[in-house]
Amino acid sequence: MGDFLSGYSIQYWLESCPQGYLMDTEYGRAPDAKEPALVLEDELMREQAIRVTTQLVVGERCALSASSGLINAAPDEAAKRFLATQTLDEARHVEIFTQRLYDLGVAKADLESTLQRYENPNLVKFAETLLEKVDNKDFIPGVVGQNIILEGMAFSVFEMMHAANQQLNPKFAQTLSGTIADERRHVGFGENYIGALIQQQPEKKPEIERMQQEMSYYMLATFSDQFSNRESQEEFAEMKKRAAEAGGEVPKQQWHGANLAELEPSEMEDLLSDTVLKEFRTRLGRIGIEYQTPARP
Ligand SMILES: [Fe+2]
Ligand SMILES: [Fe+2]
Repeated sequence: MGDFLSGYSIQYWLESCPQGYLMDTEYGRAPDAKEPALVLEDELMREQAIRVTTQLVVGERCALSASSGLINAAPDEAAKRFLATQTLDEARHVEIFTQRLYDLGVAKADLESTLQRYENPNLVKFAETLLEKVDNKDFIPGVVGQNIILEGMAFSVFEMMHAANQQLNPKFAQTLSGTIADERRHVGFGENYIGALIQQQPEKKPEIERMQQEMSYYMLATFSDQFSNRESQEEFAEMKKRAAEAGGEVPKQQWHGANLAELEPSEMEDLLSDTVLKEFRTRLGRIGIEYQTPARP
């Protein structure tokens, strides 16, 4: 296993990440970058940005807990060292998205209460399902849950948000792009490393498949809450109106063959769900796990 793991060494991480794409950034973006005036000044837009960023902090806190928790469960030294780099990546993600909450005007003293107020209960369940495996030092399900399910989801969500924000909010888009580069490394590790372990312990498969099905369900329920309940539908429509009133053309937001700016929230939800579930199926197939279709919330 030594060979491919050189791509997951601390040396590689240093050169590509802190000394590479994160050079000259502060909290993941240009030091002087600011949130757009519309986001800061329009209360509805600001609240929506806080709500979305809260889910990112919740997800990244779970990733931090999982990647650090898995270090002592890992069966070899190379995996421990990779997970140490991932732990620092995840801690950084927690920090930069928390910093975005501060940039959006959340007072430091109100951080935890803000998170509690806006966190999606289905996302919390999603995290708990994974952390139960980690707490039991159940390494293989833990890595599949973290590096394939959680990060597969994060990867697509970040990419979609990046497409939506690239022109409207370059500050947030830059924060996301460094995170996407990190997540790509993490997902790659899950896939490349865990396949051989599953071959040695095929009796683990049913447990992993159950976990995948359960986490996928909570993920879909989270998406459904974010996009298609009536409150969020109305909010989307109102934000679109205000953005139009604020003037300027709505730029194209191309992602997976669609212009996000033209989609209804329910269409965005379908596109995101389909994209992530397809990814799960492909990546799980590569490590010898049969994808289980989740119940629809
Ligand atoms: Fe992360
Ligand atoms: Fe990650």
